[in-house]
Amino acid sequence: MTANWRVYDDAGAVARAVADHMLAAAREAIARRGRFKLVLAGGTTPAMAYRLLSGAEAEWDKWFVYFGDERCLPADHPGRNSVMAHENWLAHVAIPSANVFPMPAELGNEAAVAQYLPLVEAARPFDLVLLGMGEDGHTASLFPGRPLDEDALVVAVNDAPKPPPCRVSLGLAALNDAREVLIIVTGSGKRDAVRRWRAGEDLPVAQVNGSRGAAVYMDAAALPEDFED
Ligand code: 6PG
Repeated sequence: MTANWRVYDDAGAVARAVADHMLAAAREAIARRGRFKLVLAGGTTPAMAYRLLSGAEAEWDKWFVYFGDERCLPADHPGRNSVMAHENWLAHVAIPSANVFPMPAELGNEAAVAQYLPLVEAARPFDLVLLGMGEDGHTASLFPGRPLDEDALVVAVNDAPKPPPCRVSLGLAALNDAREVLIIVTGSGKRDAVRRWRAGEDLPVAQVNGSRGAAVYMDAAALPEDFED
């Protein structure tokens, strides 16, 4: 299933579009099913969109927040994806803490997988999965050159080339039965991976489509020269 590419002038425009998409997806999910089950991206790219959500109005008590991956660091470590989301957004809105499910990667990746798996089994299908993409085409903590198990819901990673090597990640099965997948790609550093992705390379990011195909929200800086939509 091909991705749906949406190109914006700059990272600020991408952040505004992503925040608007998240709010609209939440309204639809809450209207249809009474709750919104969202998986957050880590890294730095989504921070601007998260900050915009801090000032938004929503039925926050009906939002249920999960994570796409986490690094094996202490729960309050500044390098944690959960800390990035908390500081940029979750600490500033009234989502009940009982509705936020950080991956307990501070326990080590195998223990974290064991604890997170039943949560994912109970929650899926997610309404919206947010993902970033690394310069090598990884997404969440699914890296190129490593076996990708299409049936895996949650996986332990021990050799991530992006530090720290120890991580926990949702697997392709949990990502691909989501109602929607939204991949955020900004900056010239991602240009080569976008080119490889569009050339049909079997990068991890290219294997995450969700139920409707992935929507890629990107800025002009991440466009490869030969990009034709
Ligand atoms: C992580 C992320 C990872 C991230 C990409 C992009 O733990 O680092 O989950 O998959 O989304 O590496 O990172 P940037 O947004 O910082 O470029």
